[in-house]
Parts: sequence; C-alpha cells; structure tokens
Amino acid sequence: MADITKSEGDALYHPSKEIIKNANVKDYEKIYKQSIEDPEKFWAKEASQLEWYKKWKTVFDDSERPFFKWFAGGKINIVHNAIDRHLKTWRRNKLALIWEGEPGDVRTMSYHALNREVSKTANVLKSMGVKKGEIVTIYMPQIPELAITMLACVKIGAAHSVVYGGFSVEALADRISNANSRVLVTADGGWRRGKVTDLKSIANDAMDRSPTIEVCITVKRTDHEVHMENDRDFWYHDLMALPIASPSCETEVMDSEDMLFILFTSGTTGKPKGLVHTHGGYQVFTSSTHRNVFDIKDEDRWWCAADPGWITGHSYMVYAPLINGTTVMMYEGAPNHPYPNRWWNMVEKYGINILYTSPTAVRGLMRFGDQWPKRHDLSSLRLLGSVGEPINPEAWRWYHSVIGGGKCPIMDTWWQTETGGFMITPLPVTPLKPGSATKPYFGVEVGIVDENGKEVKAGEEGKLVIKKPTPGMARTIFGDPDRYHETYWKEYEKQGWYKAGDSARMDEDGYIWVIGRIDDVIKVSGYRLGTAEVESALVSYPDVAEAAAIALPHELKGNAIHVYCILKAGLKGDKKLAAEIKKHVSNEIGPIARPEEVHFLESLPKTRSGKIMRRVLKARAMGVDEGDLSTLEE
Ligand code: PRX
Repeated sequence: MADITKSEGDALYHPSKEIIKNANVKDYEKIYKQSIEDPEKFWAKEASQLEWYKKWKTVFDDSERPFFKWFAGGKINIVHNAIDRHLKTWRRNKLALIWEGEPGDVRTMSYHALNREVSKTANVLKSMGVKKGEIVTIYMPQIPELAITMLACVKIGAAHSVVYGGFSVEALADRISNANSRVLVTADGGWRRGKVTDLKSIANDAMDRSPTIEVCITVKRTDHEVHMENDRDFWYHDLMALPIASPSCETEVMDSEDMLFILFTSGTTGKPKGLVHTHGGYQVFTSSTHRNVFDIKDEDRWWCAADPGWITGHSYMVYAPLINGTTVMMYEGAPNHPYPNRWWNMVEKYGINILYTSPTAVRGLMRFGDQWPKRHDLSSLRLLGSVGEPINPEAWRWYHSVIGGGKCPIMDTWWQTETGGFMITPLPVTPLKPGSATKPYFGVEVGIVDENGKEVKAGEEGKLVIKKPTPGMARTIFGDPDRYHETYWKEYEKQGWYKAGDSARMDEDGYIWVIGRIDDVIKVSGYRLGTAEVESALVSYPDVAEAAAIALPHELKGNAIHVYCILKAGLKGDKKLAAEIKKHVSNEIGPIARPEEVHFLESLPKTRSGKIMRRVLKARAMGVDEGDLSTLEE
C-alpha cells in the first residue's frame, strides 16, 4: 500500500518501496538539475536511444527563432523506430496491438503483422499517387486501420491530418481544405453505445464542400449501406487484395525537421489551427517521456484510453508506445457499454499494467459506484495516468483507491497539442498531491508570471510559461507561421518564453497546480474547443444575430458550454428555439460542442471597441464579482 503522510494539510502520497526499486528513473532532482544545466546534452542522450539513418549535426538550432530546429542534419523516420527496428529483435513476435471492438470482437497483431499491414497500406496509398510531403486526411473510428493508416502515410514520407471521428461536416470540410488533402481515408462507420456512427455520410457531405479531394478510401467496419461515388471511392479491403498491396515497402528516409503530421486544435480566434509536428524531436521527446514517466518495461501492457483523433492518441497511443516496443491496448467504443464495468472487464481480461485516461472518464465511471470495478481483479495495474484537465481531488482519490487498489501512483500529466508530450508530470518515484501535476519533466523549465512577466510568489496564481523550447514542440502552424509567432511567442519575445495559455500556481514545495485556460479556449470533457468556433456556428443559425459562448463548471464534464444569443429583430426565444440551436451547433461542429444551455438576451456586455466581455457573462452566471468594468460600453 502507498505510504500516506500529511503535508501542509494536504495528504502526500508516497510511492511504495517496490515502485521505487523498479523505477526506470530513481533520482529526479539530480537528473532534472543536469538536464537544465545542459539541456542539449540531455536531449542528445535521449536521442541516441533511437536509431538514426544519419546522426544529427546540431542538437538545437535557434537561429530562426521562434522557428526552432532540433537534431538538424539528422536522417530518421519515426516508423523506423516504431516498427522496423523491432523486426530485427525478438520483439518481432511480440504483440504490438490488442484491439477490442465495442461489439466484443477482438484483433491482435504482432510487430511483424503490424509491419505487414502498414506496408500493404503504404503501397496502396502510393498506388493512389500519395507523395512525400503531401497531407492525407484520416477520419475514422478507433479501429486498428486508423493507426495503420497513420503509420502507412508516414512510412512513405507523407504526413497525416487525423480529424476526430466525433466532428461533423463543417469541421471536417474545414480541416480537409486547410490541409489541401487530395486523399481521405475513412470508414463506413464505427460502433458507439450499440449504434453505428455514420462517418461515411459525414465524409461524403464534407467532400462535397472540399474541392481538393480526388480519392476516398473506405474501411468496412459496420457493413451498413453507404454511398460510394464512382472514380472517387474505393473500398480499403478491395485495394488491399490487389497485387499492388505488397507486404514489403521501403521506409522513406526523412530529415529530422520534415513534417510528420498536422493536428488541428482550437485557439482564441477564428478557425482551428493545424499544428505541425516533425520527425526527429517529436519522437525523441515522446519516447523519452513515455519511458520515464510510465516506467515502461518490456512485459507491460499499456492502455491509453484516449482517441487517436487528439494529440494524446497520436503521442501516447500510437507513436511513443510503439517506439518503446510496448504492447498497446485499444478499444473502440463507450466506457459504459453495455455495462459500466466494460473498462474494468478489459483491464482484467488483458492484464493491463498501466492505464492512462482523463478526469472526465474517471468521474463518469465513478458515478456508477464501486460495485462495478469491485467485480474485477484489477491487481495487474501498476501505474495510472490522467490528462486533459485538472483532476479534482475526489476523483483522484477514487481512481487511486478503488481502481489502483491504493498501490498505483497516478501520473497527472500536463501538456498540450502544441508541446507534443508531457511537460509537467510526476515520475513514479514522486510523492503525489491529489490535483497537482507536480513538477516539470527533464529539460523543461517553467515559470508562473504576472502581467509584467515577473515571477509570482509561491501560492499566487499567474500565467504559465515555458522558458525554453523542447524537442517535441510544434514547429509552426500549417500555412500560417505568423499566427504561430503571434499566438505563442510574441507576448514574451524579449525573454524568449512560450505562452501556454493556462494559469497556475506553485506551492511552497515547488508543486505546480494548473488551474485552467485563461484565453477563450474551453475544455469540455477534456476536449478543446474555441469560443469563436461555437459562436460562428451559432450565428450561422438563421435566427441568431449575435452570440457569445462561455464555459461554466460542470460536475462530470469539468466545464460545459453556455451560450448567450441575441436574436434578429422581432424574434422571441423559447425552449423550442433553444433546442434547435443546440442541435444546430452539434450538427455544425460535433456533439462535443453541443451547448448545455442557451440563453436569450437583448444585448451582450461589450468593451467600447466592441469586443464581447465573456468574463462578465461568466461572473454574472456564477454570481461572483464582475471585476473591473471600466472598459464596458455604456
Ligand atoms: O488547459 C490545459 C489542459 O489541456 C490544455 C491542452 O489541451 P489539448 O491541446 O487538447 O491537449 C490535451 C492533452 C494533452 C492545456 O492547456 N490540460 C491538459 N492536461 C492537463 C490540463 N490541465 C490540468 N492538468 C492536466 N494534467
């Protein structure tokens, strides 16, 4: 059992002797100090754990800041480290993937088998004219072909843009156009709560709005009827049966700084931005953080219960675990289908050792009560993880005691789509405080600063900044380098710091407590959405003249979206209209963006220059002080 002591009124959870004895990293303080004194030495050491076709010339190059380069001059491909090099060892026959579909079907794949599938798919993509440097859009449910397609694109030097399967037509069409994708890979649907999600119809509507698309490859998952267009649509299984789909394919030699993928995420203004990640630094950073933070051992079965459509799925479901030669668990459907023990059943059945998920999922399963996990032997679990939003201490304690049996440290990892991997996180040897992401990872220097960039005192809230670039950080925003500079680096240009967009405080022990976003980004159930996206969906509804969206605390989701609409002259809001508006937003963006409540107002609080003051709406809704109102228009 974990040893629990009290510190300043907070319980401090110490790891067991066994965890400490087996930990990959035992002395955090010492290695952290060295990594900060000489980050390039630290990262070069981590990079040399990977295989390079050609070694890098410089570890870090900041001559064109903020467009940093890592391992420049090096030749590598992430697929070489994630698959090819394992084939030369005993891991060839190790399980790379255990997949369970929602209806209960199971597929497993060794590294050898994964390589065959990836190579065949890569050859299929080549036959469709996919070239090095081009971006393939992937819109799929959580099935093995999603990871296989990602790896296949990268193997031949193309990049992928995975669009979360919960997004709707408008969101998908925007992302296809922004990436100039010629090829879309999708599926006829997936299983969610016993129903088919009709991805292909959404993809068809999105393609109608996307003139760049020439080819669509569809994986058959659910076997329901879908519309296929002549000359554009191909079934994946038909192509995979052709002689062109040979199981051997050269992995393309890439430069360290060549594009690996783009991933769209929400920001403060306008359309979502496609963050660009590259081959070299990203694989060094994600594999290092995964190995050290989750103490990866060869015999481990690792389950990152995220969706591959988000960065967590990219970094810690696909790339880092495969690089570390881990057996990856993947599950298609809802956590509580058909019963709330679905996850716990799979933990027991497959002997999962490490489970990494979100606070929302923990809260969602907690509400069904202890009897569901208690029906299962969860003793295979050694470590737990949390990501996406701050975890409330109540959920943390339940996760720790009921799921982890009081013996599994919880790695609460703070990071972002932009950082590629963990930035603030415990290690298994770190004494834990429920709700704190604890300390920075090696080579990561953070600061908590006030309006003027001055470090705030212990216990005070401030803005979170990263003081030095790290290898896994996104290099730019696809097609919009100015926006990248503007969004992340301009505010602290002088100091050379990265603005995270979160507020946080550090306690007397140096533990960091992330509070939440300070910009117009909303985290709903851990998913990231921009108020601007929701508002633009609202005003596209014919009756709505103006709108504002804010986040208010929600017991299960962490935050929920509340919207305020001004209707066009002469119209009156009622329940029916509110329901229609909710449905409209859900159709435009996706069910995750569906507003919790729609309010109708005569006017919105605005500054004299016409900017909506969302913080005033929020303060009013929560019944707290509205703060400084001097800029509010009359
Ligand atoms: O606000 C922070 C929150 O999620 C934001 C990043 O969202 P996204 O790019 O979608 O990436 C999520 C998965 C890495 C951050 O700015 N966040 C993420 N992890 C934590 C967190 N907030 C508190 N604690 C965390 N562990």
